[in-house]
Amino acid sequence: MTTAKTLALSAHNLTRALQLGEQQIEIFSAIDFAVAAGQSCAILGASGSGKTTLLGVLAGMDPPDTGVVDVKWGDQTFNIYEHDEDWRAALRGKMMGFVFQNFQLIPDMTALDNVLLPLQLLNNGDEAVAKQWLHKVGLGERLNHYPRQLSGGEQQRVALARAFAHEPALLLADEPTGSLDAKTASMIMDLLFDLHRSTHSTMVLVTHDRQLAARCDTIFELDTNE
Ligand SMILES: Nc1ncnc2c1ncn2[C@@H]1O[C@H](COP(=O)(O)OP(=O)(O)O)[C@@H](O)[C@H]1O
Ligand SMILES: [Mg+2]
Repeated sequence: MTTAKTLALSAHNLTRALQLGEQQIEIFSAIDFAVAAGQSCAILGASGSGKTTLLGVLAGMDPPDTGVVDVKWGDQTFNIYEHDEDWRAALRGKMMGFVFQNFQLIPDMTALDNVLLPLQLLNNGDEAVAKQWLHKVGLGERLNHYPRQLSGGEQQRVALARAFAHEPALLLADEPTGSLDAKTASMIMDLLFDLHRSTHSTMVLVTHDRQLAARCDTIFELDTNE
């Protein structure tokens, strides 16, 4: 688990607006963002400040109205929006892992199959690898349980195993403890930072919690537009 990961992310002059009927709503403008290879960066801001939108732009899911997002991989740099959605989807599948506030497990699949699915999309899917990751997050005895049979904290552990199983160079987490009680949240955060460090991945963590953000190497703060 010590494959060197060398993905750095930088973005320049990002602007994103929404057209709602006649109204144009600016979510953010002229943003410069960067996270160095192997480091963690928190995107901090109040609810509605545009954190999730920014994460989607950085992950290649949502083209910005202005600006560029560069992924630096080894000595190569890719301006990701110069490539089409298929290319970006392939980049995400191979190099990125996602963790969400609401876990987003597939309800009619077992814990094992949830972790196995992205591995199958990427290659043949090695069941032993999926099992190993579930053991690593402390769920080795729950492989065949469905999400509804697991607590919120356990579901987020499955989601962490799923996000890390292909050893992504970039881990993107959007309020990953937002649905959990304080004690469970703290355990999930410890696990997330452990996995980020042990896999040498670069991490972007979205949160509204300043204390949590302070655990990251750097903080990028979004203002609320009023
Ligand atoms: N699809 C959408 N339709 C309408 N408004 C949206 C949409 N997506 C985001 N917004 C608005 O954009 C702003 C930023 O949203 P979001 O990125 O989800 O913020 P955060 O994650 O910080 O809570 C909010 O005011 C939100 O209501
Ligand atoms: Mg959000």
